Amino acid sequence: MSKSIAAVSRIAFLASDVLVDSQPAYPATSQFSRHFRSLAETAGRRPLTFEVPVSGDPASTILRNGSTTSLVSFTASATSHTAVRLVLQATDLSSLPLVLHIAVTDDLSDVILLRSAVPFFLVSYTAQQAHDNALLAFRLARVEKKAVVHVFYEHNDDVSDVTTEGDIWRLLHSEKLAPGASFSPENGTNGHVEQAGVTNGNVHLTNGINGSHSPGSTESPTDAGIPNGVANGFGDIANAPPPVAASLYELYDAALLSTVSCTRRTCRPLSFRGADDPHTVAFVLGSLPHGLELDGVAFVSISLLTPLQPSKVLHVIPPSTSRVILLEQLRRSNTKWTSLFLDIVNILQERQTSQRILVQNIWFTDTEQINATSLFKLLNATSNLRSTSPLQLGSDAPSGPLVTVPHVPKHEVSYTKILSYIFGDHLEVSNSPSFVPTQGPIATSPEFALGRSENTPALDVLKETKLAVDSGYWPLYRWDPVKEARGQEPFTLDSDSVKNDLQQFLDRQNHLSQLVRSKPQLATELVSSLGESVKEARRKKAAEAYGDLLVALDAPPLVILYASDGGTAEKYAKKLMNRAKARGLSASIGTMDSMSVETLANEEYVAFVTSTAGQGEPPQNGRTLFKAFNAAAGRGDRPFSKLRYAVFGLGDSHYWPRPEDAHFYNRPGKDLDSRLEQLGGERFAPLGLGDDQDADGPETGYKVWEPLIWKALGVDSIQVLEAEPDPITNEHIKVASGYLRGTIAEGLQDTSTGALAPSDTQLTKFHGIYQQDDRDIRDERQAQGAEPAYSFMIRVRMPGGVCTPKQWLQMDRISDEHGNGTFKITTRSTFQFHGVIKRHLKPTIQGINKVLLDTLAACGDVNRNVICSAIPSKSKLHTRVYEFSKLVSNHLLPRTTAYHEIWLDNKLVAGEAVKDFEPLYGEFYLPRKFKVAVAVPPTNDVDIFANDLGFIAIVDKNGELAGFNVAVGGGMGVTHGNKKTYPRLADVIGFCTVEQGPLVAEKVMLTQRDFGNRVDRKNARLKYTIDRMGLDVFKAEVESRLGYKLSPARPFTFDRNVDDFGWTTGEDGKHHVTLFIENGRVQDEPGQDFKKGLCEIAKIHKGNFRLTANQHLVISDIETGDVPQIKRLLAEYKLDNLNFTGLRLSSSACVAFPTCGLAMAESERYLPLLIDKVEKICEEYGLRNDSIVMRMTGCPNGCARPYLAEVAFVGKAPGSYLMLLGGGYYGQRLNKIYRESVSEPEILAILRPMIKRYALERLEGEHFGDFVIRAGYIAPTMEGKNWYDRMGGEGKFREVAAQ
Ligand SMILES: Cc1cc2nc3c(=O)[nH]c(=O)nc-3n(C[C@H](O)[C@H](O)[C@H](O)COP(=O)(O)O)c2cc1C
Ligand code: SF4
Repeated sequence: MSKSIAAVSRIAFLASDVLVDSQPAYPATSQFSRHFRSLAETAGRRPLTFEVPVSGDPASTILRNGSTTSLVSFTASATSHTAVRLVLQATDLSSLPLVLHIAVTDDLSDVILLRSAVPFFLVSYTAQQAHDNALLAFRLARVEKKAVVHVFYEHNDDVSDVTTEGDIWRLLHSEKLAPGASFSPENGTNGHVEQAGVTNGNVHLTNGINGSHSPGSTESPTDAGIPNGVANGFGDIANAPPPVAASLYELYDAALLSTVSCTRRTCRPLSFRGADDPHTVAFVLGSLPHGLELDGVAFVSISLLTPLQPSKVLHVIPPSTSRVILLEQLRRSNTKWTSLFLDIVNILQERQTSQRILVQNIWFTDTEQINATSLFKLLNATSNLRSTSPLQLGSDAPSGPLVTVPHVPKHEVSYTKILSYIFGDHLEVSNSPSFVPTQGPIATSPEFALGRSENTPALDVLKETKLAVDSGYWPLYRWDPVKEARGQEPFTLDSDSVKNDLQQFLDRQNHLSQLVRSKPQLATELVSSLGESVKEARRKKAAEAYGDLLVALDAPPLVILYASDGGTAEKYAKKLMNRAKARGLSASIGTMDSMSVETLANEEYVAFVTSTAGQGEPPQNGRTLFKAFNAAAGRGDRPFSKLRYAVFGLGDSHYWPRPEDAHFYNRPGKDLDSRLEQLGGERFAPLGLGDDQDADGPETGYKVWEPLIWKALGVDSIQVLEAEPDPITNEHIKVASGYLRGTIAEGLQDTSTGALAPSDTQLTKFHGIYQQDDRDIRDERQAQGAEPAYSFMIRVRMPGGVCTPKQWLQMDRISDEHGNGTFKITTRSTFQFHGVIKRHLKPTIQGINKVLLDTLAACGDVNRNVICSAIPSKSKLHTRVYEFSKLVSNHLLPRTTAYHEIWLDNKLVAGEAVKDFEPLYGEFYLPRKFKVAVAVPPTNDVDIFANDLGFIAIVDKNGELAGFNVAVGGGMGVTHGNKKTYPRLADVIGFCTVEQGPLVAEKVMLTQRDFGNRVDRKNARLKYTIDRMGLDVFKAEVESRLGYKLSPARPFTFDRNVDDFGWTTGEDGKHHVTLFIENGRVQDEPGQDFKKGLCEIAKIHKGNFRLTANQHLVISDIETGDVPQIKRLLAEYKLDNLNFTGLRLSSSACVAFPTCGLAMAESERYLPLLIDKVEKICEEYGLRNDSIVMRMTGCPNGCARPYLAEVAFVGKAPGSYLMLLGGGYYGQRLNKIYRESVSEPEILAILRPMIKRYALERLEGEHFGDFVIRAGYIAPTMEGKNWYDRMGGEGKFREVAAQ
């Protein structure tokens, strides 16, 4: 394995935030990735790593995962195919902080194509040089935010001096050294430049670095008596470099200076060796045999190919030179003369000297064939030859193993002939047999055409496929013969992009036919929407004109642009706008991406408000403009000569707590501020920064920044008398909605968008409907200018999680006809459909209604689906508890008729004569969601303490239900970085009878309605109300509303919160079987047709289905006689498989990507893969059957109740999670944050020794969550309010960042 690849891989791994590695043809694996894997086990950092299969598109992977703020490495061995794919996207790539490391063996023809595509191109010939140039490339890319190509030869010479991880970090983050800066080498001889006689002491770097050779070095012409000044004689730098190249060269120079200060080794753009006063100077781009010498010939090895500085080139051509040759290691080129040769000719032509020099281009391939004799012979034979094409040195026959092109069947040949006849030059067969010689036998497989190898992770294949379909690259048509039989259209087209193209085509055709008609005939839909938009435009115009009239005439107009993912930056931008208007300014607002560089260039005063997403990245709705700024800066443009700007950034200085991640803090704001200046803008107020960690969060920084804006605009003395208009909040939306109507009905009619109005999307939640979009393809759609792929999630209200087989079958049908063909059993024991598009909403709700279910109040600020324990073995008790759940659910149900009116087409009674009335909720409904659960000890499968209100069933001595202990104030949701938010366990406050239960529920809910925080939704759940009021005061309030005191709580015991899988028989003799449905996803997969199997069961089952709060399924109430038939079906569809580890059976994950709009990381799609790895560790240590409760969510909202798990992962950014430890096994204790950001290798590295110790040292019956506390890993959480205390691990397990 080559040492240069090892050296480059190491630096790439330690320096980059994102690694994209190009794989060779399957089954080979890339040499880089082998290094990356072993580094992942030892290095202290973990870049995000992507493997792009042969024929995949590396450029789009880089663009998708790179950003202006993360340093990206691309690693590959040279192939023409890779280079072409990179070149195609070169414009976008060149303004990213990106290093493309490409390994070559004996030919540069594949990579030379990239020369014109990127600002910097470095070449290394030895392993040590590859190491040093890799550092230099990263420094350049990081500081200048530009792409650098680093091509290096695979060499096995030793790397004598390896830069440490710390030094690499320092090099990347050190301040830019001014050219001319000096440093004191620790060891004088290591200074990269050795002036004659100076081996110690300070060395002035600029000369040496800039110069192509070092005065005084043994290899330099100085030794040969060429004085320093001679350069001026023949260099005559009248031909100053073009400004762009010059400025790029300065950037290179500055980076070189920093790199040399770090490595203390020479690093030259051009290295000179050979004859002292040569007649021939040979520039070499390629690997010549070591020690090749020829009388009168000097060799100049090129390691900075772009930018090529004319003065440096001329500097190495002494006056004795009559001939310049360019030796290039090329097998082929798609131009007659290479760009480098033309550049050199150009440089020489512009010299101001009469001396004529013969310039020749020589290509060579195999280094082995080159020696002094062959070179001498060629030079001799061509000493006067002015050739019309490049000369060849050595054999130019292609080398490499012979690969047979596979036999192409006749029908395929005919088919491709037809295609080439139709498409001509446009035809590209992605898996053509002609690729076999270069790409291997896999080249003809379909995976190859889609850019995949067989071992590509399924999640990647899925995402790539979706992208391909959505973008139209793969115009997937679905053919469903069943539909044809029903008289419906059997073909459907999946790609929106193709649909849009077709639409545009039809529109154009339509338009043309309109033009030739005497009277226009427009579709009514079109006419009415046209009318609306004209009216809307007029209304807007009038409002604007009126606004213009009112504002102070001399106040400058202010444009406010924001970028925000979660709404905070948007809130501040709107606040700024309201306050600007209150001061008489004419202010307008928009997202950053709604503005182009060109439009911005005409604005005068612009305030930017941007938050920080991902790892120091701009939020979604600002990314395009950020990219455009970078591209403009990359081109050296300065478009903002008129623009005055101010930036306010929002971030969280603790979001990535490790010291090495400190640069992620508020990075977009900081970058934007300096970038605008670079683009010619003038700052009218200093950069303001808001930090979530400040006492008042971002407000602290904002309060300081805002007055500076007023001062700069000259309106600081204006007294603002009128109260600012309140920002529109959920409370406003609710009260103005006419009991949850809003304009939902109108929005459903609007066919111009797949979305509903933003305020309506808040209201549909109360109807059980969430607007979402496919996040896998969000960026691509934005890039295409298409709206996001909107669809809706629909959640059913089904108290107690019980449904009949008929209802099950209907749910199954709905998921096929209206959803994405699957459905989810949720942690609130109900059905959830995803992917329902707007025009399918009504039929879906109607379909649900048809089987007497509904979706009302399944989401929103109301009481949600009431859940209850699914323990059918205690049949009698369970039946009573289930009836109780239904009772509570019905008692707390909203009474609005809007639901029936909008979805079921029931008209308002007597033309609105009877108004809606919400006896419990009122017009404002609740401040936040409210969750009720009923548990039957000893099983806590509903996680009773995670609910706002819990009823714990208490039985009397006869086993009859006596009543319930009442628990209040549980809740999971948290906001990362906001310590005012925390999870909390419910407190037991007393006991009530079954009859009292519904009223107790009502009074608890109403107390929350009246005392809950309606100003801050992040602080609005009952858990905060109770902590604010005090538990006693809250309880007294509930009791005063009830008119009696609750009885004292009665004893109870829980022993688990996981489900009991397999068969049980109830007291009534009926049988029940609990099935394991991983993360509740009901779908058909190859070899596991679970969805179909459950349908078959539903067709014959006479009992019920019970959905558990752990997302599994009980087929309940099976008569003894029916057991064999059910067992047969379970076996046929492999639904009876319970042969899983205890870990997997106890795991659960929320939905997260691709549908949940709040997801920050994968969850449902990823947890099973993580468990594959963790369960191997468990099995290794004999814990296969031990239940360890492991949960994962894609964001801190906590839908899968992660804060109660023994070990949990909560998404922070793609691939990065909070890790929590120490939850109680039966949901009785919260866990605590152990690490603030972990990726998979870290998770495995942490868990392995922990699981091993647990296996060896646990006490009898001790659960993992208790063990990690006893073993000193983490402190126990005694109360939600103290959740953050002692986070980060205990003693020697404490994370440094948490100290
Ligand atoms: C997924 C995610 C990633 C974040 N990454 C960073 C970060 O790298 N640096 C930082 O300073 N703040 C980071 N933050 C903090 C946010 O920038 C901060 O909370 C901001 O107020 C959110 O504003 P928004 O609601 O407008 O998106 C991150 C927040 C989230 C949710
Ligand atoms: S926990 Fe977050 S990511 Fe997961 S489903 Fe809930 S809101 Fe979405």
